[in-house]
Amino acid sequence: MRKSIISMQWLFPGDYMGFTRRQVLGGIAGLAVVGLGAGGARIWLARPQVAAEHDYELIAAPMDLELVPGHQTPALVYGHRFPGFEIRGRQGDWLRVRFTNKLDQPTTIHWHGIRLPIEMDGVPYISQPPIPPGQSFIYQFKTPDAGSYWYHPHLMSSEQLGRGLVGPLIIDEREPSGFTQEKILCLKTWHVDEQGAFTAFSVPREAAREGTRGSLSTINGVATPVIELPAGQVTRVRLLNLDNTVTYRLNLPGCEAKIYAIDGHPVEPRDFVDQYWIGPGMRLELAIRGPAAGQELSMRDGVVRLATIRGVEPTKAGSADWPAALPANPVSEPDLEKAETINFKFEWVGAMTDYSQGQQAPSLWQINGVAWQGGEEHKHSGPPLAKLELGKSYIFTLRNMTQYQHPIHLHGMTFKVLDSNRRKIIPYYSDTYLLGKNETARVALVADNPGLWMFHCHVIDHMETGLMGTIAVGDAWCG
Ligand code: C2O
Ligand code: CU
Ligand code: CU
Repeated sequence: MRKSIISMQWLFPGDYMGFTRRQVLGGIAGLAVVGLGAGGARIWLARPQVAAEHDYELIAAPMDLELVPGHQTPALVYGHRFPGFEIRGRQGDWLRVRFTNKLDQPTTIHWHGIRLPIEMDGVPYISQPPIPPGQSFIYQFKTPDAGSYWYHPHLMSSEQLGRGLVGPLIIDEREPSGFTQEKILCLKTWHVDEQGAFTAFSVPREAAREGTRGSLSTINGVATPVIELPAGQVTRVRLLNLDNTVTYRLNLPGCEAKIYAIDGHPVEPRDFVDQYWIGPGMRLELAIRGPAAGQELSMRDGVVRLATIRGVEPTKAGSADWPAALPANPVSEPDLEKAETINFKFEWVGAMTDYSQGQQAPSLWQINGVAWQGGEEHKHSGPPLAKLELGKSYIFTLRNMTQYQHPIHLHGMTFKVLDSNRRKIIPYYSDTYLLGKNETARVALVADNPGLWMFHCHVIDHMETGLMGTIAVGDAWCG
């Protein structure tokens, strides 16, 4: 059973066997499966409700992975591989994913960082009913912003993400970016023992602190891999932290690198200096100049080596020039003069008092005095933390009253990070802000997407033990 899962395939627009796109999309009603030969790969053709330019079939299913040499880990994956199948769209185009759940438990897919309609956001009960085992759901939406994003379930998250249901979602710029080569590096630290068996994804004692850490650091599912970069040439390196818990303290000693985008959104290119902390859910896009052929450098998390960077022969397509800044995404600029300020306090409850009250998880954390009560399945979520008027600008003051850092994430909208009492910030756009111990930071946004949007810490066991709520925009909540 496990081995017979069909991988998801990309329909290349305008390029199937001599048909034009229109002929295929308009001329074949219903479902057709077309064999492609090698490896039993197949594509799925159907008449989409909209003219999807980027059309995928995606299956979530169990698959054994060899993370620890000589041992099998009973993972759950997307598209019969880990990291999950690389889904690519193009800025301003439609993306369509026909998703089938071949797990033995319900699931959904959330498209982290993408500004989309609430019905496509993949939050159970709020966006859609959970997708039961054996069922399919079609996700389709436009992708307004170019950049590095990712996808994952939004229920039973510590287990489903923990076992491997995470994948990259890359939205290409409308025009060539100037980069001629790229690499996607998905960071994950697995909760496994020396035999590859899973250990607990969430332990209350750890959930009450920095979160439950795994023990095996990997990049694209491999412990301390070698990353080959063409010598002297510039490669776009997309780093995605798809981990439940770990904030990677990324450093690249001896390496020539520049930051081009943070959490999907372009920044003015600047030298990568010292360290950059990538919290769970966050992304960093670098341009790295490959070291001389044969030379090796290391990519590290603090003092721990994550990977070896090795210079290899330059390629024909490659270039030694640093590309110009990436074009800005069309995110609405908040009006700071007129903006209303809303305060959010993130607190530790300090005792596992509610543990026995029939809850699935203890309440350890609160936002503005309220611990998330919706449970892992997001049922009975209660009133939103804030109600925003459609089209209005807001400043959120985020105050961390705790000794642990929290990557604070908002669905549905992109905010502008303004300032912090702890560090110097060059304002930039993001969907996740890593709020340090006792830090206060301000972010601003235009409430331009109606819906009930999740607002939570992306340390998964913090989120499941209280650090989650909703933000209503427009009349999404009438309670
Ligand atoms: Cu990656 Cu609710 O988010
Ligand atoms: Cu999200
Ligand atoms: Cu947290």
